[in-house]
Amino acid sequence: MELKPGMSAIVTGGASGIGRAISLALAQKGLFVTVLDFSEERGMEVAVLIEKENARFHQDLRIPSSMFIKCDVTNAGDVADGFERHMKMYGSLDICVNSAGIGTPVLFHRDKTDGRSTWRRTIDIDFVAVIECTRLALNAADSAILRSLLASYQASITTHHRHR
Ligand SMILES: NC(=O)c1ccc[n+]([C@@H]2O[C@H](COP(=O)([O-])OP(=O)(O)OC[C@H]3O[C@@H](n4cnc5c(N)ncnc54)[C@H](O)[C@@H]3O)[C@@H](O)[C@H]2O)c1
Repeated sequence: MELKPGMSAIVTGGASGIGRAISLALAQKGLFVTVLDFSEERGMEVAVLIEKENARFHQDLRIPSSMFIKCDVTNAGDVADGFERHMKMYGSLDICVNSAGIGTPVLFHRDKTDGRSTWRRTIDIDFVAVIECTRLALNAADSAILRSLLASYQASITTHHRHR
């Protein structure tokens, strides 16, 4: 896939580590990036850096080239809201990077807890949330394709009427 200025991405876990590095790399190609992460301070800092990178590509932009949205990826409402706000702002979604993740230091077989803050939480973040975000990303891509099909259909009807 060729990355072009004006394309857009959602990066979960974009506030630090791999997600942060990918967010900045996308911004260096002029992509609009929405960062979904529960780390507010670092997330907002990354959004500012993305805007700086993006300024080279987009002059007189009337919208922010990056948004940080505080979000727990295990919370379906948070995630849906993040995707909805991205679509409202940028109108489409080209890339979804699922980088929000945790590890747990507690060895699985030695875990005496119910796992709610250890292995269950890890599976919810590292696996279930990845599936949920991918599902929403595919829906967003579908609706963008439908919108562009509808737009070209409307354009062809207009042209057809003009030539009658
Ligand atoms: N760094 C590596 O070498 C490496 C190697 C293999 C796998 N991984 C895995 O890749 C993932 C990312 O690694 P990293 O090094 O960038 O980690 P990191 O800790 O630097 O970044 C993870 C980001 O995810 C965010 N996050 C965690 N839980 C979240 C949640 N519930 N909702 C929203 N955001 C949440 C954190 O706030 C953080 O900003 C992790 O799952 C890690 O285990 C990393």
